[in-house]
Amino acid sequence: MGLIGAGRMGSFHAATLARRLPHTVLVAVADADEERARSLAAELGVAAAYGDAGALLADERVEAVVIAAPARHHAALVLSALAAGKPVFCEKPMAVTSDEVDRVVEAAGESGLAVQVGFNRRFAPDFLAAHDAAASGDLGSVQLLRSLTRDPGLVAPERVPPWTIFLETLIHDFDMLAFLNPGAEAVEVVAFADALVAPAYREHGLLDTAMVTIRYSNGALAVAEASFSAVYGYDVRAEVFGSNGMMTAGAPQRGAAVRYSAAGVLQATVRSDTELFDAAYVAELSAFAEAVQGGTRPPVGPADARAALRVALACVESVRRHAPAPLAGRCAAGQHRPEA
Ligand SMILES: NC(=O)c1ccc[n+]([C@@H]2O[C@H](COP(=O)([O-])OP(=O)(O)OC[C@H]3O[C@@H](n4cnc5c(N)ncnc54)[C@H](O)[C@@H]3O)[C@@H](O)[C@H]2O)c1
Repeated sequence: MGLIGAGRMGSFHAATLARRLPHTVLVAVADADEERARSLAAELGVAAAYGDAGALLADERVEAVVIAAPARHHAALVLSALAAGKPVFCEKPMAVTSDEVDRVVEAAGESGLAVQVGFNRRFAPDFLAAHDAAASGDLGSVQLLRSLTRDPGLVAPERVPPWTIFLETLIHDFDMLAFLNPGAEAVEVVAFADALVAPAYREHGLLDTAMVTIRYSNGALAVAEASFSAVYGYDVRAEVFGSNGMMTAGAPQRGAAVRYSAAGVLQATVRSDTELFDAAYVAELSAFAEAVQGGTRPPVGPADARAALRVALACVESVRRHAPAPLAGRCAAGQHRPEA
């Protein structure tokens, strides 16, 4: 494997590829900051370090690529990897515009190569169990869904590009909602977003708090919400409610230990995504390696990336226009679009 983008997430994935997957060897690391690539390669005993992705893609030892560069570069890097004949795992979002994501979907299909997107929550056992319950029909017809992401630390707001809350954070929730409502398409969204954590950055377009309502082609209704500053920890949960019951997934508690004292009851919480989803991040790369080695299709790919991006882009439109934003989908039943 070769890794492109040796920042926070890239370093985590690199350590997984180098140390935690038994049948995978990390042979090269590339970063626009060559020194960063060199130091990560040295730390993990990786043979090659490059200052640009092209050099890594030209390295014949690299059979498949993991991309963890900033989102705005993803589509171009995926297309370059496919043009070089290399299967690719790309962090979310796989693209940031609809033209880009269409090009990626098309190129992935034409190449026949394994292409996977980093929707790691699908690999966490409780979220997968909720999906299985919905997909098997055990929950009956799906009617209501929710998903939330609350992150403990807005560290450097000036480094966060506008619309990140939809394109990079809530995109996980939009994918999870689709995972929990199998076969349905989002047809309309209403989104609200504001800068409640860091109001000074509102004028720069950094929105740190958001709430979204989504209507699906099977009539189901969903709510997704995000905050960039939850003081109590890293909190990701989801819920799917159907005619036969409900299933919930996710909890911010670190473990089952509870401390009882004169001050009350205390349970430690998870503080970061890499702590909460540690096993899921390993499982998603393991699934990618298996798909590459077996020549099979990864469990989550470009079509899923496109479905989630369509919702994120509709949220941007909804916030900009202060209005509901329809998606180019079909409504299954007339009863949920009442005439005025
Ligand atoms: N799945 C998840 O839960 C999850 C969590 C965090 C981040 N991410 C995603 O991972 C990606 C990276 O996020 P991060 O927090 O690691 O960012 P980061 O800023 O820490 O790292 C990005 C790295 O990419 C390098 N880079 C920039 N342009 C490049 C290029 N053209 N080619 C090669 N390298 C380049 C930068 O020098 C930097 O080292 C983002 O898309 C983000 O949304 C996913």
